[in-house]
Formats: sequence, C-alpha cells, structure tokens
Amino acid sequence: MSSPSSKHTVFVLGGTGTTGSSVVNGLLEAGKYHVIVGVRSSSLEKPEVSKLRERGVEIRAIELTFPPAELDAALKGVDTVISTTYYTEIDKQVPLADAAKRVGVKRFVPDDWATPCVRGVRKFYDQKGAIQDYVKSIGLGYTFIDVGIWTVLAFPEDKEETEDSFIPSKSHRITGTGNVKNALTHIPDIGKFVAEIIDDERTLNKYVFCWGDEKTQNEIWEIARKAKADASGGPLKAKPVFESEEDVRTKLKNAKDWSIQQIGEEYNWSMYIRGDNNVESAKKPEYGGALDARELYPHIKVSSAEDIAKELYKQ
Ligand SMILES: NC(=O)c1ccc[n+]([C@@H]2O[C@H](COP(=O)([O-])OP(=O)(O)OC[C@H]3O[C@@H](n4cnc5c(N)ncnc54)[C@H](OP(=O)(O)O)[C@@H]3O)[C@@H](O)[C@H]2O)c1
Repeated sequence: MSSPSSKHTVFVLGGTGTTGSSVVNGLLEAGKYHVIVGVRSSSLEKPEVSKLRERGVEIRAIELTFPPAELDAALKGVDTVISTTYYTEIDKQVPLADAAKRVGVKRFVPDDWATPCVRGVRKFYDQKGAIQDYVKSIGLGYTFIDVGIWTVLAFPEDKEETEDSFIPSKSHRITGTGNVKNALTHIPDIGKFVAEIIDDERTLNKYVFCWGDEKTQNEIWEIARKAKADASGGPLKAKPVFESEEDVRTKLKNAKDWSIQQIGEEYNWSMYIRGDNNVESAKKPEYGGALDARELYPHIKVSSAEDIAKELYKQ
C-alpha cells in the first residue's frame, strides 16, 4: 500500500454533511486519494466522524475562524481543498482560500454544488460568485462545480399533507407552467463525478456542471404517478399545488432579506420561471461556460429521474 503522502491528498471541509459524504464516498471508492475531512472542534465526537476514521479517513479539526497559522497547519500537505460546508459559511471561505494559497494547494473547489445562474438573480448565487472571484483574484487554482437540484428534492413526498416550504418535495408545488426543464443530480452521484474532476487537468481553472437527468416539473409528476402505480397499483397520495409566477413574486417581496425563505424562493424563481438550471444554460459564457461532466466522463453511470422514482415510491 502506498503511504498517504504519495497519494493525491484531498481535504474535504464539511465531509460529514450531505454533499460532503457523497464526495468522501466517491474519493474513497476511487481508491487513489488520501482523504482528510475537516470538522469543527464541536463535531469531533460525532458518530459520523468515528465512522470516517474507521474507513481510513484522516480527521483534522478546523474552524474557519482559526488564525492563519492554524489554518495553514490544518491544510498542511494538501493538494486539493473541497469545501462542502453549511450554507451559512460561504463568506467565511476567504481565510480558507488564503491559507490554501499560502501552503501551495493546487486546486480549490469552493462551496457551490447548486444550480447555474447569472449574477443579480439570486443573492446566494452572488455570494458564492464573490468567493469564486476571490479565489481567482489570489491566483489559486480552482474548479467550480454545480450539480443542479438534488433529484430527491424535485419529487413530491407521497403524502397528502404539504409543508409550508419552498422545497418542491415538501410543498408539492408546481411553479409557473411546470414545463421548464431542470437539471437534477442524485446525491450519491456527486462524489463519483468529483473523484474524476479533481484528477483531471482539463478541469483546472474551469467550471464543471454535473447532472444526472433533465426534467420539467410536469414530467417529474408523471414519472412519480407511474412509479407509484407500478409499485403498488394505487394512485400517488400527493396532489400538486399550483403557484403562478405572480405568487412567487409576492413570496419574494414578503421574504425577509437573507432569510432561508428568500434564498429558497429565489431558487424557485431562477429554476422554474427563468429556466436557469439546465445544461444548455450552464454551458453559456454568461453562466460561466461550464464543461459538461457527462461529456467528460461518459463511463460514469448516473441515476435517472425514473431510477429515483422507483426507489422513492416502492412499498
Ligand atoms: N443542489 C442542491 O439541491 C442542494 C441542496 C442543498 C444544499 N446544496 C448546497 O450544497 C452545499 C453543502 O450543503 P449540504 O446541505 O450538503 O451541507 P450540510 O449537510 O447542511 O452541512 C455540511 C457540514 O457543514 C458543517 N458545518 C459548518 N458550520 C455549520 C453550522 N453552522 N451548522 C451545521 N453544520 C455546519 C458540518 O460539518 P461538521 O459538523 O463536521 O463540522 C456539516 O456536516 C451548499 O453549498 C449548499 O448550498 C445544494
């Protein structure tokens, strides 16, 4: 077995989270990386952290508020930094990027993992964009990665009750015409893409778009109904709640600045009204000119919307 230091060393910030777990799984399955997960001191005793240790992952304590010398120590020997941290921590990546630059990290993947857009539409996108600008400005190697919407969030949960949420799986909302195509990725597929992307010179200093399928909301509901009928013979309990473009405008007007509601409704505006979240848009220069991960890595088997519906609606 090669020593950790002879392998490409990857530091995953937030590797205990949803995106981070997928990334860590993908890296471990690839078998060629030394994987370090950066966790907050308060999380060191979490069961997920012990499980990662058991799987051969090195754990390093890190706070984004650490002084520079401690951040440098946390990133010592690291080739690639991948940030998958909580959505409130986006701005705090600046000192992490600075530390990465100081210690000679070759590639920095900031905390994006979402839907393509242009500036001035979603505040959260602009905030992530400011970090991308910063990473470029300090001459740190980078790859920016988006994944569309997680497929499970697009399908309605199979129950009559709805939640007052901006997330389609919870609210059962169909927004606007329901005919706007959206890119979807099954969470476990994210890590499979990442394991390829970070070991590929073609993606250095580029934006990469990962996706598993593209579907409109009306198509999603049809797939859900069929999957439920195939699995149980019965109808879907969930019923669509239709909302107009005007409804979203009103929700946006009433949302508190920087609230999770505002972030969520801006996503819905962008995805279902404007139509930003698809492969064609992602590739446009104004969206960052994404490389298509499916074209780069045609051997990766990704889950389709139908695959996920079969799982979600099985008895
Ligand atoms: N494409 C989509 O549909 C979609 C959906 C949701 C999120 N996202 C994006 O994916 C990225 C990662 O989000 P995620 O949902 O995967 O992350 P998450 O699971 O919510 O959190 C990731 C990790 O962040 C760390 N963390 C740091 N500060 C924290 C805090 N104040 N509260 C809680 N955890 C904190 C925790 O790790 P430790 O405790 O180990 O330190 C946690 O496990 C974000 O950029 C988000 O916008 C995309």
